[in-house]
Amino acid sequence: MAINIAIDGPSASGKSTIAKELCKELNYKHLDTGAMYRCVALKVKRTDTDYDNEEELQNLLESINIDFTPDGAVLLDGEDVSGEIRTDEISMLASTVSTKKTVRMHLVKIQQQIAKDKGYVMDGRDIGTVVLPDAEVKIFLVASVETRAQRRFLENKQRGIECNLRELKQEIVERDYQDTHRKHSPLRKAKDAIEIDTSNMNIDEVLDAVLNIVRPKL
Ligand code: DC
Repeated sequence: MAINIAIDGPSASGKSTIAKELCKELNYKHLDTGAMYRCVALKVKRTDTDYDNEEELQNLLESINIDFTPDGAVLLDGEDVSGEIRTDEISMLASTVSTKKTVRMHLVKIQQQIAKDKGYVMDGRDIGTVVLPDAEVKIFLVASVETRAQRRFLENKQRGIECNLRELKQEIVERDYQDTHRKHSPLRKAKDAIEIDTSNMNIDEVLDAVLNIVRPKL
């Protein structure tokens, strides 16, 4: 019987990387919920929507179409925006729009609908606490700010994105603050989540640790 696996944690803690590896290992499907908030942010920017205006925000959400291709590309209204949603500007804007209750309610409903079929690894900030409180496995990934900034730096370099380590660190600290201090569904470890500090671990080591938690539940 397939189960659902929730992976939460702060930005750049390795959630998406581990979720993807886990999906390959278990032949499960991945839902990157952060990409959905990023799509809302990109659409807000493109349409110059005032996100403090409830009516404008509601109109945007009614017309937005977020989808994923089988190989993981992110589609916003049918257009591949996989690269465009990863800029620093959209990261910060995603964190800001995700503080809005209207946005959260809309996306959480879609996420819960998708996960009904089970067999999902879902990563985000509120998966274990709000989206899938009954997930069979809940993992909470953490890592030091230094490690996370370094990882993002290397990732950006590989993608050919210019960046500065000090600025990345600053952005991570700001997003951590915003994501943990917002009123609606702040980033929090679920009571029954297992925390893994990945600061001194490589991807294979984290994957092994997660698989050791997941396998007995399958
Ligand atoms: O995981 P990420 O860095 O791609 O997420 C971008 C932003 O979206 C993050 O700063 C907070 C928000 N987010 C959220 O509030 N809830 C989620 N389940 C996933 C992301």
